[in-house]
Amino acid sequence: MSVRIAPSILSADFAALGEAIAAAERGGADLIHVDIMDGHFVPNLTMGPPVVRSIHKVARVPLDVHLMIEEPDRYIEAFAEAGAAMISVHVEAVPHLHRTIQAIKELGVKAGAALNPSTPVGALDEIVDDLDHVLVMSVNPGFGGQTFIQRSESKIKSIRALLDRRGSAAPIEVDGGIDLSNAARVVEAGATILVAGNSIFGTGDPERATRALRAAATLRAGV
Ligand code: DX5
Ligand code: ZN
Repeated sequence: MSVRIAPSILSADFAALGEAIAAAERGGADLIHVDIMDGHFVPNLTMGPPVVRSIHKVARVPLDVHLMIEEPDRYIEAFAEAGAAMISVHVEAVPHLHRTIQAIKELGVKAGAALNPSTPVGALDEIVDDLDHVLVMSVNPGFGGQTFIQRSESKIKSIRALLDRRGSAAPIEVDGGIDLSNAARVVEAGATILVAGNSIFGTGDPERATRALRAAATLRAGV
């Protein structure tokens, strides 16, 4: 399965999002990762559906919307209408995950479950067959630029094994602290969507950084 690079605009200049997205796309971005934070589920605040709608107008690649919010059910339709192609909700934030995942799919959007670093793989047992993707947080959600938690590598392996056992081809997305030093390792562990904020938009040249991350991710893994 080929690797997809999903630059996270959380680390971009919010006054120049169009330019940031265009640069990442020139570098070969496959998706644009959009982090939605509500100041409750995570301590930080970011943006809502109107900004996503504007991003959708300028982006040429699909939008991967990561909801780090309480009560995501209230906003799923608005994000779908704003142009999300993929929506991930945190298993820690929803009491009726099965219902939420079905609701996302009914809107014609790919549905994923996101796991915080401390959430065990077993949280996916009863929902794995319904998921279009799994998002593994490799930092505690809320901020860009944090250090990759090493244990995430074995967690990715366990989730890939679980998906394979159940006959699911759902991709694993890894999010947090991904850079040139660990990209190949997470791909070897089984991740095929790499989210990267700081290592792309924290550099002076997001186009080049996107290209470099793909090269690093596919080097040793040979994919
Ligand atoms: C963190 C967000 C990430 C963040 C990743 O809560 O979910 O998507 O933008 O940023 P980096 O790559 O800087 O860790
Ligand atoms: Zn994210």
